Amino acid sequence: MVDTSDAWIQSHTGIRERHIADEEETTSNLAYKAIEDLLTSYNLEASHIDGIVCATATPPDYPGFPSVACMIAEQFGITGPALDVSAGCTGFIYALEVARAMIATGSMKNALVVGAEKLSSVVNWKDRNTCVLFGDGGAGCALLEPSKEEETGFIDTLLKAEAAGTKALTIHPEKHAIEMDGRAVYSFAVRTIGSTIETLVKRNNLAMEDIDWIVPHQANQRIIQACSKRYGIPEEKFYMNIDRFANTSAASIPLALREMDRAGLLKKGQRILMVGFGAGLTYGGTLLTWTY
Ligand code: ACO
Repeated sequence: MVDTSDAWIQSHTGIRERHIADEEETTSNLAYKAIEDLLTSYNLEASHIDGIVCATATPPDYPGFPSVACMIAEQFGITGPALDVSAGCTGFIYALEVARAMIATGSMKNALVVGAEKLSSVVNWKDRNTCVLFGDGGAGCALLEPSKEEETGFIDTLLKAEAAGTKALTIHPEKHAIEMDGRAVYSFAVRTIGSTIETLVKRNNLAMEDIDWIVPHQANQRIIQACSKRYGIPEEKFYMNIDRFANTSAASIPLALREMDRAGLLKKGQRILMVGFGAGLTYGGTLLTWTY
């Protein structure tokens, strides 16, 4: 489709494989599958869920539904608050904090936090600067509940936006396709991932050794390598699966968490730091102690 090669893509991004959803698949279908997986795996009924916060940059345009979260609510018969959060690839980090805050204030008893994208619907397959970077991973989700134990749960969150840089990464309103200044986004990503990790570690009086896993938004292996080098963060602390999914936007962090969970990498009491960056330009991170 474009003048590129597998060698160029692998050496510049670390991506080896990607998945593309069927034409008829929608963002909410993909979310539905992730939620069914969560309910089955943890032996839960949909009636247990109170509210839904969905991070997405690719909401399906269905009449009568203002958000993917409302479509999910309809499918699972959930009657509490349901809303989408739009913060590009940082969406899942923003959505976690929105849900955490709504639980803390009593607006929700618990929350299903979903990251879902059909990114192929906004990729221009004739633009080699962007199309080689993205894929459809589907969706991932997490259930947030008030912590019963003091020593597990959220520790700290940092959310930021540098809207002055917004033009570096947009979805063109008429062409309905991602447009990007790759180098500008690359520099922004290395700087903000590094500074977010440093800030969250330092202001909680922790050292890098106290963090068991960093789960970054999966955009480019080289961004993580550069960040690790510049900020002195061991590369093996970053969980990476971009080689098999490419960049799946707001779905990438929960997809990585699900994979880690399945592989038995996540253990109760571990400190996990999730960090994201993306359109807006937005960035942010969440530090927590794993509960299950
Ligand atoms: N195949 C082959 N050649 C290419 C391709 C391609 N797909 N794309 C660009 N090139 C060429 C360029 O034309 C250029 O050629 P030239 O030197 O003759 O002019 C050469 O490769 C180098 O181009 P650069 O732009 O300098 O390549 P760079 O090493 O910066 O890598 C990349 C480009 C991978 C896009 C990098 O800048 C990057 O990863 N940026 C961040 C992108 C990103 O993460 N975006 C999403 C973040 S937010 C979100 O997740 C939605």
